[in-house]
Amino acid sequence: MPDPLYLATAVEIVLRAGDLQLAGQQSGFRVDKKGSIDLVTEVDLACERLCRDTIAERFPGHDVLAEELGALPGRSPSRFRWVFDPLDGTTNYAHGLPIYCSSLALEIDGRAEVAAIYDPTRKELFTAERGEGSYLNGRALHVSATTTLIDSLLVTGFPYTVHEEGRELVELFGYFLGRARAVRRLGSAALDLSYVAAGRFEAFWEQHLKPWDVAAGALIVTEAGGHVTGMDGGPFDPAAAHLIASNGQVHAEVVDTIRAFRAERAKNRPS
Ligand code: IPD
Ligand code: CA
Ligand code: CA
Repeated sequence: MPDPLYLATAVEIVLRAGDLQLAGQQSGFRVDKKGSIDLVTEVDLACERLCRDTIAERFPGHDVLAEELGALPGRSPSRFRWVFDPLDGTTNYAHGLPIYCSSLALEIDGRAEVAAIYDPTRKELFTAERGEGSYLNGRALHVSATTTLIDSLLVTGFPYTVHEEGRELVELFGYFLGRARAVRRLGSAALDLSYVAAGRFEAFWEQHLKPWDVAAGALIVTEAGGHVTGMDGGPFDPAAAHLIASNGQVHAEVVDTIRAFRAERAKNRPS
């Protein structure tokens, strides 16, 4: 079992990030563009600074991989890496839509061991340690028991490159829409994963993700009894940018649906 100080630190950082996020919604904040539809607010940056400063002070030898400020130059890699999304759901946040969080995982030797995700609007804190289960505000979490896609509520997301390469992703969304009870797009991958763990969604899939979107949430899903793989059903690779996370029961049907979609699309593509 990892040092309890790791989880305590992860929880402290995401709770303090949540305070900054709520304060920003009250006071207002600067918004800049990283691309035509990709935003960054001064709150994203403040949350990331908070995380980097806390880890540097408490665990000076550890690495931090986070979205906004890049890697520290000239350091030999540590066995310990904190993977942080300072504000997951920035588009929602910038529009005042209260679906956002911060997400922090500690990887040891390349594998997530500790995770914390905090949604300050609902005061929901999702946590996990490998082998110790997942918790929502201290209460044990379990994925849903639903066994079929037609009875499933699904969720997905789209990358900021959706204008350029979104057609296939939107078609896949439509394909699932015709086969599941319903499909949602909330705008926060970390909350999507937390909600699979909590049994609110049966499954989540997304492509073109970044490690900080999924590092914590993937552990929270597996520790809640769920299953996480790549889009083809093969092993989950946190660096690979795509995943399916599910309650386990509907996983094969989700993988088969993606396979059938791709086969149909390839067949219909003009040669
Ligand atoms: C985004 C959100 C969104 C997902 C995008 C992510 P950000 O992260 O998680 O749900 O669809 O792929 O980039 O930019 O809000 O941290
Ligand atoms: Ca994100
Ligand atoms: Ca972010």
